[in-house]
Amino acid sequence: MKQGAKQGGTGRGIFITGEGVEGSGKTTQLARLATSLRTLGYEVLETREPGGTPLAEQIRTVLLNRTVGTSATQTAPVLPWCEAHLVLAARTQHVAQVIRPALRRGAIVICDRFVDSTLAYQGYGRGLSVPVLRRLNTQATEGLAPDLTLLFDVSVRIGLARRRKGRLEETRIDRENRHFHEKVRRGFLALAARVPRRLKVIDARQPPHAVSDVVAGFVEQLLRKKRKPSSSKAKKSALMTP
Ligand SMILES: Nc1ncnc2c1ncn2[C@@H]1O[C@H](COP(=O)(O)OP(=O)(O)OP(=O)(O)O)[C@@H](O)[C@H]1O
Ligand SMILES: [Mg+2]
Repeated sequence: MKQGAKQGGTGRGIFITGEGVEGSGKTTQLARLATSLRTLGYEVLETREPGGTPLAEQIRTVLLNRTVGTSATQTAPVLPWCEAHLVLAARTQHVAQVIRPALRRGAIVICDRFVDSTLAYQGYGRGLSVPVLRRLNTQATEGLAPDLTLLFDVSVRIGLARRRKGRLEETRIDRENRHFHEKVRRGFLALAARVPRRLKVIDARQPPHAVSDVVAGFVEQLLRKKRKPSSSKAKKSALMTP
């Protein structure tokens, strides 16, 4: 496909997303990747979902149920389609106001969670129709799809243990039972099996530097395919993780 040839394409930029169950190491690895790419002279935009714009961050707060509402409303269940529509509403803003403009500038956009989380959590996890979610996502993003998705795969047990050890704040989603998180993990793996060229499964049980090496390999492959590096420094250097 020619770059930017169709409306849904990523244009001159490169769009990389990170996915995986809670505590799989997404945020750690994506930050390392961003640092390495900046060192090589690329413009990198780091962002996350749900979130990435002021309104979308407000929706994130509602979704993760940290500070909004009284104690009574905090414990009231959020219905699955309500959750899905909130995620997609946040994505609509995020894609139009942040991601697309950065891609048009030619930046590398690195997004912590994107469409595959919607399909894995709201589809496989909550049991909503995956084809309907896909259609709604296409509408929300006007067909924008990542060039590369890194799926950090660990067992639910390891992921949740890492989060506890790292004393990361517990969210409404963390409090879901183990069975829910297992369905999400299986969902991610099923999605990866369907589009292996875009969605790369990475064994995230390994120590951080080993995971980073695997990430670097996939990203180098993509950069070679998509375009030449933007600076002379980049031409000489391989993508080394910090
Ligand atoms: N490869 C690794 N081995 C051991 N611990 C790790 C590894 N990668 C990250 N960690 C630690 O695990 C915890 C969770 O990592 P991180 O926040 O990157 O995961 P995440 O996938 O972004 O989690 P969340 O889904 O909650 O956003 C952190 O304390 C981090 O330091
Ligand atoms: Mg994270």
